[in-house]
Amino acid sequence: MKDILKAPFVIEMEKTTANMYRLGWDERNGGNISLLLDTEEVGEYLDLSKVIRTIPIGFVAKSLVGKIFIVTGRGKYFKNVEDDPANNLGIIRIGEDGETAELLWGYEDGGQFTSELPAHLMSHMARLSVDPENRVVMHTHPTNTLAMNFVHELDDKKFTHTLWEMCTECIAVFPEGIGVLPWMLCGTNSIGEATAEKMKDFRVVIWGMHGLYGAGKTMDETFGLIETVEKAAQIFMLTAHLPRLNTIRDTEMQELAEYFGVNYRKDFLDL
Ligand code: 13P
Ligand code: ZN
Repeated sequence: MKDILKAPFVIEMEKTTANMYRLGWDERNGGNISLLLDTEEVGEYLDLSKVIRTIPIGFVAKSLVGKIFIVTGRGKYFKNVEDDPANNLGIIRIGEDGETAELLWGYEDGGQFTSELPAHLMSHMARLSVDPENRVVMHTHPTNTLAMNFVHELDDKKFTHTLWEMCTECIAVFPEGIGVLPWMLCGTNSIGEATAEKMKDFRVVIWGMHGLYGAGKTMDETFGLIETVEKAAQIFMLTAHLPRLNTIRDTEMQELAEYFGVNYRKDFLDL
């Protein structure tokens, strides 16, 4: 068996959580990540017949039965993942009943997966239904995006339009726009269901006055997507209180989207 601590997916989780912590997005235990793994690859590192313990997931995830994820731990700090991955991360397989997680590695201090597992697994199901290559779901509290939630209308079209206006390439990076949910109680199946519904149309979903969810095929794609949203929100927050002298026009955004050949939400522009 190969050393699990050297597995590329463990190292990628360590690097990403450290990076997000240093960006100031994930204070204390804020944020969580789940990454869908390749069963054969995990089998090179772990004996897949050895289940350490089982943990109920609180709903039925039928379409994920047998799938293996590496997931950040509940109440764990992104700051600490790099130095102690075996306590702060876990590798779980969704059991035959679809409502039990089989722990294959990690959560060594007796902990468990993030409290946001319903939103993660439901988002995975929604994204996989529209993109079979989706592997990553990330939840984080990026500072400027969060700040913008308090001074901007929480509406899919209006929020997307403002972000698209803030950086020339935004419309090419998230041409489908972003989904926006109102404030809701986190950690529940209800917020998971609402997030998953939006995830059928968008790879980024804002949780009003809390943070956001991002999804993608790779960690780089997902991180890059969130980074771009956060950059646009930062430009908005740096300029919102100043007189606006220049703006990227809707016709210019259209020109850019068409030049890049992306399938953008035309109804989110006022042409
Ligand atoms: P967890 O520590 O359970 O992952 O929760 C963090 C969080 O951001 C809740 O929304
Ligand atoms: Zn959160």
